Amino acid sequence: MSAVPTIQLNDAHSIPQLGFGVFQIEPAETAEAVAEALRVGYRHIDTAEMYGNEEGVGEAIRASGLDRSEVYVTSKLNNGFHEPDEARRAFDATLEALGFDYVDLFLIHWPLPTLYDGDYVSTWKTLEEFQRDGRSRSIGVSNFQVAHLERLAADADVTPAVNQIELHPYLLNAEVADYGREHGIATEAWSPIAQGAVLDDPVITEIAERLGRTPAQVVLRWHIERGNIVFPKSTTPERIRENFELFDFELESGDSEQIDALDRGEKGRTGPNPDTLAYVPG
Ligand SMILES: NC(=O)c1ccc[n+]([C@@H]2O[C@H](COP(=O)([O-])OP(=O)(O)OC[C@H]3O[C@@H](n4cnc5c(N)ncnc54)[C@H](OP(=O)(O)O)[C@@H]3O)[C@@H](O)[C@H]2O)c1
Repeated sequence: MSAVPTIQLNDAHSIPQLGFGVFQIEPAETAEAVAEALRVGYRHIDTAEMYGNEEGVGEAIRASGLDRSEVYVTSKLNNGFHEPDEARRAFDATLEALGFDYVDLFLIHWPLPTLYDGDYVSTWKTLEEFQRDGRSRSIGVSNFQVAHLERLAADADVTPAVNQIELHPYLLNAEVADYGREHGIATEAWSPIAQGAVLDDPVITEIAERLGRTPAQVVLRWHIERGNIVFPKSTTPERIRENFELFDFELESGDSEQIDALDRGEKGRTGPNPDTLAYVPG
């Protein structure tokens, strides 16, 4: 029923290219937002331990009547639990909060190169255990820079299936995305519409008017055509639906190049820099 394409990962699993993100959705509102997304047709939910709303995600999926296997679920390791035994406990807690016996994808949320003696390799090897025992079908990383990916390539056995990075028209993050393309690591684009900051850009609004689409649809379609995996967040039912309607139109010749040219490099970054972020929840 869904026209959402799937992306083949390097471990033989595949992931729906469009999903629903739940960052900054209040725990008490999460089940309703996810329920609405599932009604619209989304079959991929992106959560994290640090969002505090895994329970609502599991609750909505169970209440939907869909089979667990029909919904792709991602969660991510809390920054406070990189040490292997802590990571094992945290992963158990994720499964318990979701109420599932597996996740489709589990990520190291941030590399934290200035914490834990810079040892994200031991953390990654702990995620390899979760994949080996079948409780995480795929494993990946988030906010890893090229140097971090190169270190995993040198010191670990498994190549991450995905790298989830900030990526939108104002931050193409090209060096990291290119590294992924060259090494079989799929790119997931977080804050795909820069939390709304790109939507009134004249380049975007001109394309939207010409195509009879909304600015958000134009930007999300641009991601889809680039091969990025995206999961826009919204708690507004009309926007949840709008963001799903991306597969009955295409950008016109030259549109993608115009959007690419909006890249501001580092100045376009809206979130923390992964080389320096050292946030651990209190
Ligand atoms: N790995 C990481 O470090 C990381 C970091 C950030 C995000 N993420 C993931 O990426 C997901 C998406 O990123 P994000 O939540 O930061 O930002 P986003 O999806 O780029 O933007 C969400 C914001 O845009 C608004 N919005 C959504 N659809 C819209 C539309 N069609 N028209 C106008 N405004 C619209 C939403 O408002 P309303 O809700 O009020 O409608 C919300 O304020 C997150 O939910 C999370 O799963 C991961």
